Amino acid sequence: MCGIVGYVGGREAAGVILDGLGRLEYRGYDSAGLAVKGFGSDGKLRAVKRAGKLSVLRDAVAAGLPAGCVGLGHTRWATHGRPNDVNAHPHLSEDGRLAVIHNGIIENYVELREELAGRGHVFVSETDTEVLVHLMEEAYEATSHDLATAVRACLARVSGAYALVVAHAEHDALVAARNTSPLVIGLGSQENYLASDVPALLPYTRDVIYLLDGDVAELGRDGVVITNLQGVPQARETNRVEWDAEAAEKGGYEHYMLKEIYEQPTVLQNTLFGRFTHGGLDVELGLDLDPTTIDRVVITAAGTASYAGEVGRTLLRRLARLDTVVEVASEFRYSEPVVDERTLCIVVSQSGETIDTLEAMREAKRRGARTLAILNAKGSSISREADDVLYIHAGPEIGVASTKAYLGMVAAFALLSFWFARERGYMDDDAAREYVRALRELPGQVERVLQVREHVAQIAEQIKGARSSLFLGRGINAATALEGALKLKEISYVHAEAYPMGEMKHGPIALVDRDLPVVAVATNSPLYDKTVSNLQEVRARDGRLVVVADEDDTKIGQHAEFVIPVPRTLELLSPVVNVVPLQLLAYEVARALGRDIDQPRNLAKSVTVE
Ligand code: F6R
Repeated sequence: MCGIVGYVGGREAAGVILDGLGRLEYRGYDSAGLAVKGFGSDGKLRAVKRAGKLSVLRDAVAAGLPAGCVGLGHTRWATHGRPNDVNAHPHLSEDGRLAVIHNGIIENYVELREELAGRGHVFVSETDTEVLVHLMEEAYEATSHDLATAVRACLARVSGAYALVVAHAEHDALVAARNTSPLVIGLGSQENYLASDVPALLPYTRDVIYLLDGDVAELGRDGVVITNLQGVPQARETNRVEWDAEAAEKGGYEHYMLKEIYEQPTVLQNTLFGRFTHGGLDVELGLDLDPTTIDRVVITAAGTASYAGEVGRTLLRRLARLDTVVEVASEFRYSEPVVDERTLCIVVSQSGETIDTLEAMREAKRRGARTLAILNAKGSSISREADDVLYIHAGPEIGVASTKAYLGMVAAFALLSFWFARERGYMDDDAAREYVRALRELPGQVERVLQVREHVAQIAEQIKGARSSLFLGRGINAATALEGALKLKEISYVHAEAYPMGEMKHGPIALVDRDLPVVAVATNSPLYDKTVSNLQEVRARDGRLVVVADEDDTKIGQHAEFVIPVPRTLELLSPVVNVVPLQLLAYEVARALGRDIDQPRNLAKSVTVE
């Protein structure tokens, strides 16, 4: 995920920016850049940007830092456009006098780019960010060189997520704006700072203002003015940061895992948005793959990634009518897999380094299959060898138990199956509109689910003493049950077993008694009535039922000891919202038991041995 640092004051801005970006290193990135100007100068901004690590940028300016006391800098985690020098931020206007850095996704950038190109603007990068520069350049002229007004005018045209900072050669100030992506102001004496995360500010100041969605801030050396998008002044309180550096990296959360759970709305935005075309009826995934050459799909992955694959299988089958199977990567290579050149082998991996998954992909290739990797980490071994890569843009995942990467993987399958469905003619325009509308609602819905944490913590308190538990789900949510059970096992060390709910009566129901927590997913589906019957079977045997249900389901309470409400979405997209309370449940049980949540025993983040 990208990092932002801005500075206005008496020091050399470039030094402050490089130092601040270095403190955001834990976020990971693939390119970096900065732009600075001196006070009172109205010449060009001095900008340097480089693909690669921050050290490459440091080397590029080693001979002498660009001089100036106003500046902005950025580390990029590529979403739109490859990680190269040109796509690195800042992006400069055609006259070199305006610079923009941006985190987030401009959703309507394809339309805006066409419109601006039609008016003669020349685009040099492949990024969504560059449309902001050209829009601001126009607005700057139209608003008699009032930078903050120009930024507001530009943002009125833009939909999507952003934290952005703008500098102009004629102004001794920075203008910043936020919608969804975080941005914090650091207050100093005769100097002020901006950053995407608090750690960048800690050596300089602990007095901060957290910008809220819709805020536009103008930072001068002597003060800060915050307005809304209409230019109406907004009062924002100053907070004192008490965290040490490590706590600050966790954004104030007790654990990385919790922070990553809370980042999921942003991950969904990164994965889903900015890829739709034709008024949202189609999706551009940047694949070389020709869908007409594929008859069959084999998904292979390990652990959590394989459960994302289980969701993917149902989506590909039901939306695109593709014959799809999932095989665990550690078994795939030795199973004499039946694949040929009309098979698409989809490998799924957060790290892109899991040896089982890499070897499974190599085996599929040897047998002639086409390969597509759904990945988080860039530049990984799998990314180099796959025919196509679909990135989920989840940012670095530090907690050993995977959470946000899982949601990103499921979202990637939601897009991929939509693409296949449209290409293969299995989804008409009306169905496409409904599906894309539901996709767009997902980040906000996940944001709402996160509010159940307190309720989930109370449930965790009740069930934390159990020695074993059962997770149940039907259809596409059988995978949600698998993932919920794995999370609980991994971080709380409480045994958990997952079953497709209809299978329970064929054996596992013998386990049910008053000591057994049974966590079930019972959101809307054609099998809802059968699901309720299964719940009654558990209830009749005194099982302690924890049920994830649609928030408007008023009847489910009579069948369950605890209900966790989630917003209603399409059945096929429901794994995205349904898994979140199960992640929280695992987290809260582990926390109540005092486990080492970010580094559970016996586990490693990236498993590079067979
Ligand atoms: C579970 C978990 C593991 C990984 C698995 C694959 O929380 O993190 O099950 O999902 O080891 O790792 P990647 O996705 O890096 O291939």
